[in-house]
Formats: sequence, structure tokens, C-alpha cells
Amino acid sequence: MMGAVGRVFVTRALPFPALERLAAEHEVDVWEERTPPPPDALLARAAEADGLLTMITERVDGALLDAAPSVKAVANLAVGTDNIDLEAAAERGIPVGNTPGVLTDTTADLAFALLLALARRLADGEREVREGRWAPWEPSHGLGGDVSGTTLGIVGWGRIGQAMARRGEGFGMEVVHSSRSSGLALEELLEQADFVSVHTPLTPETRHLIDADALRRMNPTAYLINTARGGVVDQVALREALETGEIAGAALDVTDPEPLPGDDPILSAPNLLVVPHIGSATVRTRSRMAEMAVDNLLAALAGRDMPHAAN
Ligand code: DGY
Repeated sequence: MMGAVGRVFVTRALPFPALERLAAEHEVDVWEERTPPPPDALLARAAEADGLLTMITERVDGALLDAAPSVKAVANLAVGTDNIDLEAAAERGIPVGNTPGVLTDTTADLAFALLLALARRLADGEREVREGRWAPWEPSHGLGGDVSGTTLGIVGWGRIGQAMARRGEGFGMEVVHSSRSSGLALEELLEQADFVSVHTPLTPETRHLIDADALRRMNPTAYLINTARGGVVDQVALREALETGEIAGAALDVTDPEPLPGDDPILSAPNLLVVPHIGSATVRTRSRMAEMAVDNLLAALAGRDMPHAAN
């Protein structure tokens, strides 16, 4: 159907102008519920679509693509593509697009906000005030750690990791990094850093990269920040490390699973701050991500290369 009017299944409401551009050229079928389409609904709607505009909550694999042979293009509203089997898509000649670049600073801002919140115990303080436990000022109350003069260890040296590094430098931190192709060995970084911030994509190689052994190597005064993917950190090991005081604290924007159930055992661990995957959640960034996803679909459905191709 290349070049003709097609049908695009958009797996969640997208309240951004980009969707109007898509709707001006193609028939748009939007999943209007706030929760993701269950697998059978995804399959049924995909089977009637030429293109998919997916979120990180949708699993797109060979089985789905085989069951929906009309699908010619997939645009993910994310830079991460771990929810999509890129190889399976490539084998079937289906381009997959993502949204790199526009969320770099936004995500690094959140990672640094978490770092500051951990160091200065913002969550503890806020709880105290709201629960009526704010006692008169005293010198030893609410003591946190300093940020300037400490070492920030960045795991993964892509765009977001490097943006986090710039923030660390701006705050007077010494920055070290570890990646597949540059920087320190991970073990060395873990031993040196006061704050370890994770910025790797989730792949079979990085699943549980931060495991019990890695956490043991961190200093008992060190903090872990994860704004990448929950699966990069072994959450059972993290809970243990927090409970035994092996590390001083952790802040997670991403967990495994997501959403994290309210009774997940990790939530009872001390010195843990969790926010609900909001790394790229600003109006400007989400709107730009939607533009990129729509650009990817418009190009692919017109038979052109996606401007932001992931496979
Ligand atoms: C991404 O882009 O991969 C984020 O996790 C969602 O914005």
C-alpha cells in the first residue's frame, strides 16, 4: 500500500499536534484506554493496520508480526527499543523507528534530580513534614551527603550518560564512566563512585548488569540511580543490598516489572526512592517524540526510509 492511504494503530492516546499530521494522511485507529491493549487486542488491531505507533508497553515480536502481515512499519514512542524484536522485524523487511536525541536532556535532568534527592534526603524530609513530624531545627537533623567533590560513575556512555556527565561536572563532581568501548572496567567504577548512574539500553548482555556482585563492590556510602531500564538492575539483589546497608540508597525511575505493584517487596527496603518512569515526561519532549514517531511512519508508509530508524 506504499504511498496510498493506510491505517495506523496508535496504542495509546497521543494528545499532541503530531497525531493530526498522521490523521491528515492516514486512517488512525487509537487505543483510547489508559492501560495498554492486552495482547489479543493488540493482535486484532494490528492485523488491520499498515503501521503501528507503539509505546514501550507493547511487545512487538515475530509472532505478532506474522499474525499481522499487513503491518509494514513500526514507530516506537521511545528511544529504547527493548520491547521490539528488531531482528524479527528486519527479517520481515519491517522498518522500526525510535525517538533518539529529543529526550536526552530531559532524562538526564530527571537522573540528576534523583541524585540530588537521594543525597539531600528530599523524600524523607517531605514525608516528615506531611506526617506532622517536623521537629524544631537542630544541628544533626536531616543530614545528607554532599554532591560537589564526590565521584559520579556513569554506566553506559551514550547520549544520556554523557548528558548526565555534563550535569555532574556542573555540580563540581569528578566524573568517570564505563561502557563496552571506553572508560573504566565496571568493577573499578563501582569501587570508585559515590553515585552510580545507569544509562545502558536493556539487552541480553546488560540484563542484571548491576547484580549482587556489582552491588557488593559499591561503597556502603554510595547511591545507585537507574533511569535506563528496570531489567538492568537485579531488583532482588538491590533490595538485599539496601536492607543490609551494603549501599546507602537507590533511586529508580524504572523497575521490573512496570508498573511496580504497591506491595512489591522492594518498596519496603530502606533509603529507596521510586518514581513511575517519568524520565522523558515533559510536555515539550513528549510532543517532540510524537513528531518523530509520526515522521517515521509517514516516511515508511510513503516508501521512504525512516528518518530515525532503529533497525
Ligand atoms: C524511552 O524513550 O526509552 C523512555 O524509556 C520512554 O520515554
